Amino acid sequence: MQIHNLSDKNSILNTFISEIRDVTVQKDSMRFRRNIERIGEILGYEMSKELTYKLSTTETPLGKSSINLFENDIVLCSILRAGVPLHQGLLNYFDDAENAFISAYRYHRHDLESFEIVVEYLVCPSLENKTLILADPMLATGRSLVATYEALKPFGIPKEIHLVNVIAAQDGVDYINSYFPENTHLWIATIDQELNSKGYIVPGLGDAGDLAFGEKLQR
Ligand code: URA
Repeated sequence: MQIHNLSDKNSILNTFISEIRDVTVQKDSMRFRRNIERIGEILGYEMSKELTYKLSTTETPLGKSSINLFENDIVLCSILRAGVPLHQGLLNYFDDAENAFISAYRYHRHDLESFEIVVEYLVCPSLENKTLILADPMLATGRSLVATYEALKPFGIPKEIHLVNVIAAQDGVDYINSYFPENTHLWIATIDQELNSKGYIVPGLGDAGDLAFGEKLQR
């Protein structure tokens, strides 16, 4: 797996990361969603550099212009519900992408500290020989991404996989690194070192789904 950590280099991305983390600014849910969307656009732009390009000719009013255009068939899959704004950011750039959605949530058993990932809803086109982008803003334990990958297997073997995350915990990166095939790229806006006992990233930002869409009742 190739890991691309965009925070290795300073850019405008730092501003959006700082705002989604900020305990005051993040309370504005519209701004939070928009910032995640903007981060999705930046991650998508960086990711596009790894696609496969073919020379194409465009006719202008005054002549012909040659340019390389990507030829990948993209399927964009997001994990509900926190993945929705990130999905929109990626879709803003990949106009013709097909789309898949999956619900994966943490089901806490008797005690609050252990949980299992429950996958309930899945819609997906064929993935055979396509470029699969899997978007999930928070890569914490990595278990949701792995559960999603397993659930997608019956839909075909993708040519390559791009995992797109906003904040990743080092433990989660290590876990998925051992799990996903070699032709996988991991795109992360920034990385945190800690995961607390409840599986939240520290310092992280809190619950990305709640910040984007409001608090939920626990099941
Ligand atoms: N999901 C979140 O929303 N936040 C975390 O810190 C981890 C998983």
